[in-house]
Amino acid sequence: MYPDLKGKTVIITGAATGIGKACALRFGQEQANVVINFHSDKQVKETEEMIKEIKNSGGNAIAVQGDVTKEGDIKQLIEKTISEFGSLDIMINNAGIENEVPSHELTLDDWNKVISTNLTGQFLGCREAIDYFLEHDIQGAVINMSSVHEIIPWPHFVHYAASKGGIKLMTQTLALEYAPKRIRINSIAPGAINTPINAEKFSDPKQKEGVLKLIPMGYIGEPEEIAATAVWLASNQASYVTGLTLIADGGMTLYPGFQAGKG
Ligand code: NAI
Repeated sequence: MYPDLKGKTVIITGAATGIGKACALRFGQEQANVVINFHSDKQVKETEEMIKEIKNSGGNAIAVQGDVTKEGDIKQLIEKTISEFGSLDIMINNAGIENEVPSHELTLDDWNKVISTNLTGQFLGCREAIDYFLEHDIQGAVINMSSVHEIIPWPHFVHYAASKGGIKLMTQTLALEYAPKRIRINSIAPGAINTPINAEKFSDPKQKEGVLKLIPMGYIGEPEEIAATAVWLASNQASYVTGLTLIADGGMTLYPGFQAGKG
């Protein structure tokens, strides 16, 4: 637990499912004020349940619907946060999408959708949060949800890999730019995590087996294991950490083909 997170206000985008949801519940356990951004009308019920759970753990929470690709929605997300909780301390840009298409068949529309959600959406979240921190002299923290695919090339997912590669240098550039203001900007690169984005893939035993072969620790990660890295990065325990990609991947980026000298 991180006592300094108690009473802090955190926005998490795409927080009705998966890693974002686990982060929201964990910040609730830390007794933070949690703003759950969600995208689809179908997620309203889920967010209502989450608000109850967060309040039961001693935190506070609201849910705000919005599309991270829309500048106006991100501005409104910040405004609603301030009007409800009076401030903003931590911004977690988590929303992301992917779809599998051989690159020579990838439509411009699909390319644009992934880039605008995963990269432009995260940029807008960074920009608005940093602008608020500067205006109010807050030494805030930003966390961007990247992926091991900011390092590992991924055929059939060129738009996804390009978006995550973009997040790497966006995070480092912003970290350098705002370090003098003590605003910390980091990212997390999860490996294969058990969330809805992977549901189809992991329901096929063959595909799951293929993924497991790439993970030296031998299991698919749980979203709570990513949330655990997010609370640390947001807390004062990481006060001197900025521009970092924190990799949480069970060893996936350690060249698993070389395990036991078999490479
Ligand atoms: P998920 O599909 O459960 O979560 C993504 C969330 O983003 C969903 O709740 C969705 O409604 C929301 N979203 C999509 N478009 C949006 C938009 N335009 N505006 C607002 N919200 C939107 O999947 P997961 O795994 O929790 O993904 C979260 C993040 O973690 C993503 O950025 C993903 O790329 C990243 N990640 C996930 C990994 C995994 O294995 N699950 C591995 C590496 C990175």
